[in-house]
Amino acid sequence: MLTPSARSNVEPFYVMEVLAAAAERQRTHGDAISLCAGQPSTPAPQAVREAAARALDGELLGYTQATGILPLREAIAAHHRDWYDIDVTPDDVIVMTGSSGVFTTLFLAAFEPGDTVAMTRPGYPAYRNTLQALGCQVLELDCGPETRYQPTVAMLEALPEPPRGLIVASPANPTGTVIDPEELAAIARWCEEVGCLLISDEIYHGVTYGRPVASAWQTSRQGVVVGSVSKYFSMTGWRLGWAVVPQELRRPLDVLTQNLTICPPAITQYAAVAAFSAQARVELEGHVQRYAVNRDLLLRRLPALGLGSFAPPDGAFYAWCDIAHLTDNSIRWCQDVLAATGVALTPGLDFDTARGHQWVRLSFAGATEEIDEALDRLDASGLLRP
Ligand SMILES: Cc1ncc(COP(=O)(O)O)c(C=O)c1O
Repeated sequence: MLTPSARSNVEPFYVMEVLAAAAERQRTHGDAISLCAGQPSTPAPQAVREAAARALDGELLGYTQATGILPLREAIAAHHRDWYDIDVTPDDVIVMTGSSGVFTTLFLAAFEPGDTVAMTRPGYPAYRNTLQALGCQVLELDCGPETRYQPTVAMLEALPEPPRGLIVASPANPTGTVIDPEELAAIARWCEEVGCLLISDEIYHGVTYGRPVASAWQTSRQGVVVGSVSKYFSMTGWRLGWAVVPQELRRPLDVLTQNLTICPPAITQYAAVAAFSAQARVELEGHVQRYAVNRDLLLRRLPALGLGSFAPPDGAFYAWCDIAHLTDNSIRWCQDVLAATGVALTPGLDFDTARGHQWVRLSFAGATEEIDEALDRLDASGLLRP
């Protein structure tokens, strides 16, 4: 009998199961509103779609260089120079299959089985599950409202010994909170001093609402900055991410990528160059303005609906809401909400293994009218009253 490996026995990504349930609701009732997807509700920028059409006609679209085509790495390097005023060259950039591809390859390149890698709780579950599948020890740092659900140097200094790696995300998923630039700089310096690899997930950069956001490379080139076309650039399914990496990791990441995936998708690479154009920028800033309107709507309506305890959504498009007064089984509660209202929410368990059964994540990346309608339905359902 076939026995799957012990290492493959990781938690499912529950949000994918919620998405499937929402799709089924849409099929059977035709009334689903999804506030569960962690993705923009818009297609790739028009300039990207046009570039993809040109690439289909004009390029061979065979395998590319494992680390990504030069014009794309040039565009990404220029993007980092432009946004953060730092010196990044195309050689510092490695393009991969989504930031998800970066995480797996980077963990393999940087960590040994048994190494301890720290991340926040609540935090993005795939870090934890991927690290576990690779045999690493995951150290979850409990982060609450006092620190905007983000780690601090004080928290790291209180550890019995420094971890081998630290993953931070700012803006974060599921909370949307950001790390203040001074604190991120202090964390980057601490990591350099103690020899801990800082992995700074910056894939929600660009989707912020006024609070300043810094890049880890503004302080330390010893860390890794992770980017993606998925969120700000509205291109989740195109599967393209990148890492800005210290020199020591370039060759291992190149060689691992050659072996694991050969190269990222060629058509996406050619098309994604246009994601960094001025034309795309105008369209993408329009999306951010819509997210800001949706965020204002939630900030206004959630307290009136009895959901007044949530993380400050500094960025990304999520509201991380405390529902402890309503349930201690967020999965069941979300199922009840879907059945009663057709509104799909994400139970918190993915993101917080300790307290996630009393939290829920709402995504506000969709259309403003849909979010308003979803809140009306939630209100009318009675499920928001203890
Ligand atoms: C914080 C964070 N990092 C990484 C990812 C993975 O994104 P992708 O592989 O599409 O770049 C996600 C997806 O939701 C995320 O929220």
